[in-house]
Amino acid sequence: MTPVRVLAVASEVYPIVKTGGLADVAGALPIALKAHGVEMRTLMPGYPDVMRLLSGADEIRRWPDYFGGPGRLLAGSHDGLDLFVLDVPHLYARPGNPYVTAEGVDWPDNGLRFAALSRVAADIGHGLVAAFVPDVVHAHDWQAGLAPAYLHYDGTTRPGTVMTIHNMAYQGKFDRALTGAIGLPPDASFDVHGLEYFGGISFLKAGLQLADRITTVSPTYAREIQSDEGGMGLGGLLRERANVLSGILNGIDIEVWNPQTDPHIAYRFGAQDLTFRSANKAVLQQQFNLDSSDEAPLLGVISRLSWQKGLDLLLEAIPTILDQGMQLALLGSGDRDLQDRYQAAARANPGRIGVMIGYDEILAHLIQAGSDALLVPSRFEPCGLTQLCALRYGAVPIVSRVGGLEDTIVDSGEAGQNATGFKFGPVTADAFASTLRKANAAFHDKPTWRRLQLSGLATDVSWRNRAGEYAALYRSLMASRRG
Ligand code: ADP
Ligand code: GLC
Repeated sequence: MTPVRVLAVASEVYPIVKTGGLADVAGALPIALKAHGVEMRTLMPGYPDVMRLLSGADEIRRWPDYFGGPGRLLAGSHDGLDLFVLDVPHLYARPGNPYVTAEGVDWPDNGLRFAALSRVAADIGHGLVAAFVPDVVHAHDWQAGLAPAYLHYDGTTRPGTVMTIHNMAYQGKFDRALTGAIGLPPDASFDVHGLEYFGGISFLKAGLQLADRITTVSPTYAREIQSDEGGMGLGGLLRERANVLSGILNGIDIEVWNPQTDPHIAYRFGAQDLTFRSANKAVLQQQFNLDSSDEAPLLGVISRLSWQKGLDLLLEAIPTILDQGMQLALLGSGDRDLQDRYQAAARANPGRIGVMIGYDEILAHLIQAGSDALLVPSRFEPCGLTQLCALRYGAVPIVSRVGGLEDTIVDSGEAGQNATGFKFGPVTADAFASTLRKANAAFHDKPTWRRLQLSGLATDVSWRNRAGEYAALYRSLMASRRG
């Protein structure tokens, strides 16, 4: 196995900073890649939580003026992850969510903040750190999208580049005037084959246009984003670059998500003793103020509350949940309007609908361990991770037929013995409600339900093989650049 060195660039990394699945992927992939001969180091911004956890990191570079203020590059490690941290206090030393203010609006200097991250990624690519000169720079999402662009416009020998799309909906769009301020050649880069995007610039578009390879997080999403609708403005570009675009499914960290050892759940269990799930269900019902009943199917949701996730359709399906005798436990945060509507639904249906607004890792584990089914009714879903955790915890996924949900769940109607859940399409409230009714009938047929759970538990949701696909991609990229 040829050893490969890869610099990953990500704006969030679990367990240090997380707002969604990107962090899970950025945190788990480097560790899984070790077995495939890939040495990965990850570059991330020095947010306050990062600086706290990496207080012993080594300073390897210092700049008196980095994008408008003093900056440093640090190298350190945390929880098995080897990290480079870009410590630029005037850009990153802000509490709370990494992208938005306390009022929920994007920081006005996000363009500068994430250009700075990509600039240093490109410099590491050029050999800034003698002890770690990467063969490949792997950029995740728009925040890292300029790394392939800087490497391209710098015009010197450079490593291979990979751009991974975790979500087409976030494209990093800014005014064209920014190009000069961030040190890109304003004329050359403001071009349809560069950063230009509908009269402005887009960091994601830059990465998609200029990286050697493009990946996204499921094969179905890789197809969907080549359409005008799924591409959200970038479908044409992706159709043109289809020969370098592929979909590699996400895995989950099966140590963090292991019902046999999970410290966050009330009762641990495995395939042999699934009956212990009832005890977790009872605790979950208590925590969400739901009636205690083992017979009522308990539906769980763990999600960002955004248009993507289709949770307005679930609100419309509440009458079905009620007349089918089901219960709902929802944990989520995001869109204010959805938060209010869910809280109102919980107030109107005590004992039946339970809602917790917020972000709570521990409760997320308990929902996986105690709910009978996990709902993911997304309008689009690049991969989705909660349905993978659900498979591992015996919560039967009920999902829409899109993106990674299509690729990771086997519908009960399709494959008898191997079915792991329920899929519905089109993504409408009616189709969702009728699938909930079907799932309710299956729940009351105990052998059927048990078979679904056991097939889920037997599904490989780990990173082992999926990391191998990234390793093969890095190696093929190196070979094509040599040849
Ligand atoms: P996305 O990245 O689009 O939000 P994913 O399903 O890929 O969706 O990943 C979401 C991750 O965030 C999962 O690990 C999930 O458990 C976690 N998560 C989402 N919302 C919450 C919440 N309110 N509390 C705790 N964990 C959450
Ligand atoms: C994004 C997507 C989600 C995916 C995650 C990790 O946030 O919305 O589907 O699982 O990234 O790749």
